[in-house]
Parts: sequence; C-alpha cells; structure tokens
Amino acid sequence: MEISVSIKRYDPEEDDLPYWETYQLEVDQMDRVLDVLNKIKWHYDGSLTYRRSCAHGICGSDAMVINGRNALACKVLVEDVGSRIVIEPLKGLPVVKDLVVDMDPFFEAYRSVMPYLVNDEPVGHQERIQTPEERDRYEDTTKCILCAACTTSCPIFWSNGSYIGPAAIVNAHRFIFDSRDRAGDQRLAILAERDGVYRCRTAFECTEVCPRDIQITKAIEEIKREILLRRK
Ligand code: FES
Repeated sequence: MEISVSIKRYDPEEDDLPYWETYQLEVDQMDRVLDVLNKIKWHYDGSLTYRRSCAHGICGSDAMVINGRNALACKVLVEDVGSRIVIEPLKGLPVVKDLVVDMDPFFEAYRSVMPYLVNDEPVGHQERIQTPEERDRYEDTTKCILCAACTTSCPIFWSNGSYIGPAAIVNAHRFIFDSRDRAGDQRLAILAERDGVYRCRTAFECTEVCPRDIQITKAIEEIKREILLRRK
C-alpha cells in the first residue's frame, strides 16, 4: 500500500524552527512504524534521526508520538494507524535532533527515587526469602522499560517539567512494596514533596499509553494512600 508519512524534523544546530517533512512510500500493511522509519532512513533520507535498538518492545528506545499518541514505533503496525502517518518526538523533553529527545531530565527523576533494593541487614549465605504473595504485590510495576511514553504523555509534566512523573513513581512503587526493601519511608518522603505524587491529577494518559500495560494510575493512587497510612 502507498502511505504518506509526515515527520517533525528539527536540528537545533541547523534550523531556526522545527518543520514538517513528508515522504510517500510503498510499504506492507503489516510493517511496523519502525520498519517505515528504517525504510525512509535507508532509502530516502539518511539524515533522519531516531532511536531504536531491540525492535521488539523491550529496550524502550523508540517511544515517539504517532498520530497524536505516544507509542513504541516497533509495536505499532501500519494497518493500525492507516495510510497517513504523522510522527513527532515525545513532548516535554528537549529535542536533540528529529525524533531523539534529551532523556537526562527523565533519568534524573528516575534516579531520585532510589530505584534499587536497599537493605543492609546481613543475610549470611541465604537468599532474602519472599512469599509468592509478597512478590505479587509489586509484579505490575516490575514491567517498566523506561521508554518515557507515560511521563511525556502527562499534561501535568508538559506544564511543569519539575513534576517527578509517572515513570519515576512506578519505579518507586516497585521497591516501596517489596518486602525485602528498607528504604520505603525515604522514597515516600521524596514522593510526598511538592513535585511528587500530589501533582498527579488522575488524567489516566500514562495508563492509556503504557506499552507494557502497567496500571500506572493505580500505582500512583497506592503510593498516595501509603503516604497517608504511614503518617498515622
Ligand atoms: S526498539 Fe526497543 S522497544 Fe522498540
């Protein structure tokens, strides 16, 4: 089938403003949007810039806005978006070039919640034992691939880049509810700050776009509840 693909292009070192470039090409309807981008780059315009690595929805590199919705280019089929495709970089993060955004602010927020197990208690030669029920408590939030689709779909994040954002909250949730971890109170104190969970207005955009189907809004609400419970 013949499709038209409009891509928002911008090279801050060359261009005063972003501009749209449209390509007409023949593709298979079962091609993914990532295949389309590769075809454009390899056969039409080698200067087109975007991130990708695994091509199978695991690495989280190719999140972008496809027909107005945040998604991984490797998980969207042409037949699902039709013959007119509009692609933009993720919103709310500075554009480095074309579809590549600067992920530093995103990872800074992620690092601020201590996204690792904290437990200095000696265990000798044993493992830190956990029941299946305890493991289930945070199963959903282990699925995050840090693609930033959630945080950059959030209207609160667009208007206030200091909001810690859904992805950082999801990764805090993964450890706060881990029975082996001992830094839950510290993380909850960070999330209770001015730019933490209370900035969330339950817009559900993050949950709608998550390519791993994580119940993000539910996780945010669980954190809000936990902050109140531990204050008592
Ligand atoms: S290229 Fe790795 S998630 Fe799409």
